[in-house]
Amino acid sequence: MTNDVTIPTVLHNAAAIFHARIVEDLFEKGWSVQPDYLGIGLAAVLKMRMTELEEAAALTPAGIGRENDNRIAKDIRRDSTFWLDPANSTDREYTELMEDLRLTLNRHLFLGLFEYEAHYALYPAGGFYKKHIDALKGGKNRIVSTVCYLNEDWQEKDGGMLTLFDRNDHSRVVNIVLPEEGSIAVFLSEDIPHEVTPANRVRRSIAGWFRCNTSSAERANPLI
Ligand code: OGA
Ligand code: MN
Repeated sequence: MTNDVTIPTVLHNAAAIFHARIVEDLFEKGWSVQPDYLGIGLAAVLKMRMTELEEAAALTPAGIGRENDNRIAKDIRRDSTFWLDPANSTDREYTELMEDLRLTLNRHLFLGLFEYEAHYALYPAGGFYKKHIDALKGGKNRIVSTVCYLNEDWQEKDGGMLTLFDRNDHSRVVNIVLPEEGSIAVFLSEDIPHEVTPANRVRRSIAGWFRCNTSSAERANPLI
């Protein structure tokens, strides 16, 4: 009996400590980077899941902009993506961790985060994503961005760095993040410009966004 409860409690405490640090960082500077955020077990199953998706050719080239304006702009980004599937237990496990983060952010920062959407992303060698902001044009809905990395032993020479810029001075670099397995980057979607420099080897991640509910009489978004 004790064994059954001990492990989840320890895991939960680890998440709680990370989430508290993320709250503090977002409040102070609008971004947070936490190495070793994913436990070894979760990182391993997420990597297996991505391998399966790749073998099934399930990832498709990413576009830019909202659904009906979803141009594939190869000069801006070169990655392929697959949206997490609630029917898959690995995807659900990751989503549950993000749900805990969502509740913690709402509790402490009053962000009114309503739901989470996320996709696996694969950058091939040569892949990049030019400097941008995540909040979609035409809708104030993406509030907090998350990126978790799944790459073993990533070196600086491998490129593919996430560069974060200052929220007040958009030309000032505030952090250059190595996309090392288990790390998470979290930032305010509307405030923090960022880019992915060209990767010299295949680069795997899960990018996600907490959204607020922007439903109105004219338009329901998200559809509920
Ligand atoms: C994105 C993004 C950053 C990264 O998908 O919008 O900026 O490090 N990703 O993969
Ligand atoms: Mn982005």
